[in-house]
Amino acid sequence: MSSERIYLPNTPQNFYALAWAERLKFVKSLVACGETDVYRIIRILERHERKFQLKLEHASYTYSDPQNGPEKIDVFTGHAEWVPVDQGSDADLLSTGVPAVTENSFLGKKLTLPAYTDLSVIVANWIIDLIDEDCSSVVELGCGYGRNLFNIHYLGGPLGIPYYGTEYTETGRALASFLASLEGAIDLRVEHFDHTAVDLRFIEESDHLFAFTCHSIEQVAEIPDSYFEDLAKSAKKLTCIHFEPFGFQISANNPYSVRQKDFFIKRGWNTNFFDVLKTAANTGTINLTHVYKDIIPNEEISPTSVAIWRNF
Ligand SMILES: C[S@@+](CC[C@H](N)C(=O)[O-])C[C@H]1O[C@@H](n2cnc3c(N)ncnc32)[C@H](O)[C@@H]1O
Repeated sequence: MSSERIYLPNTPQNFYALAWAERLKFVKSLVACGETDVYRIIRILERHERKFQLKLEHASYTYSDPQNGPEKIDVFTGHAEWVPVDQGSDADLLSTGVPAVTENSFLGKKLTLPAYTDLSVIVANWIIDLIDEDCSSVVELGCGYGRNLFNIHYLGGPLGIPYYGTEYTETGRALASFLASLEGAIDLRVEHFDHTAVDLRFIEESDHLFAFTCHSIEQVAEIPDSYFEDLAKSAKKLTCIHFEPFGFQISANNPYSVRQKDFFIKRGWNTNFFDVLKTAANTGTINLTHVYKDIIPNEEISPTSVAIWRNF
């Protein structure tokens, strides 16, 4: 728990900066108690998050704009704590204290899944099967603490090539680096990345780069028009897959997509990924091979869609 009050604007980036900092503290406390195995550490963090969630303290700050007068803005104070997840009524809980089922959406329909279903392996296994034999590096853009990259490694992803974990927040990078320092079997290199200013020059010359995103573009209100062109120029051969909740951008043709659209607009989350992608494909900047709307179940508001493209 942090005691210092710092007053940060309530943006998705500041949310994650604070959230990854608290997870870093939690992980360091596990290591201080003798945990050394990163696979176990990630599973223990997930177990903790089944019962507890991070609560970030908010405050209202009055900003005096010289031209427009005082304006109230919502800020984070920097104070965060783990609080018990509100699991609903006891009647619907398993004896372990977690809900017996979770409500999700998938392909425009409601999907009820049993407790303990691990959806994160879908992304890792999809990537493992898509990585071509000749791929010489893997990069996640907006990786948080590198959960997907560690999953890819533990589920049998390629050995002996660099994995780049790139992330906007300094605290996310610190946690990814800390975990990487404990896991000698994966060559995980952690770098800064910003979806609004694509720059992958830190990647060593790679014959065939495999890049992916997973629910990180969602956090950026608008990606630049040149996003795919800039990525496409980053390697001789580039294969890229996006796991992002952009179904409503393809068509808001069912109640879940309509709710997703409203939610993203209200939150200031991404609304232009699919338009920029389509333009890049139509102008021949990229070779868009597959688009799947709402193909991976997730919480009702945020089913994951997938787009795959290459620069060759
Ligand atoms: C929902 S988390 C997903 C993290 C990770 N991809 C995963 O699946 O576990 C969203 C991530 O996007 C990152 N992010 C937010 N704005 C970004 C930006 N402009 N460029 C790159 N990453 C950003 C956040 O810091 C956060 O780590």
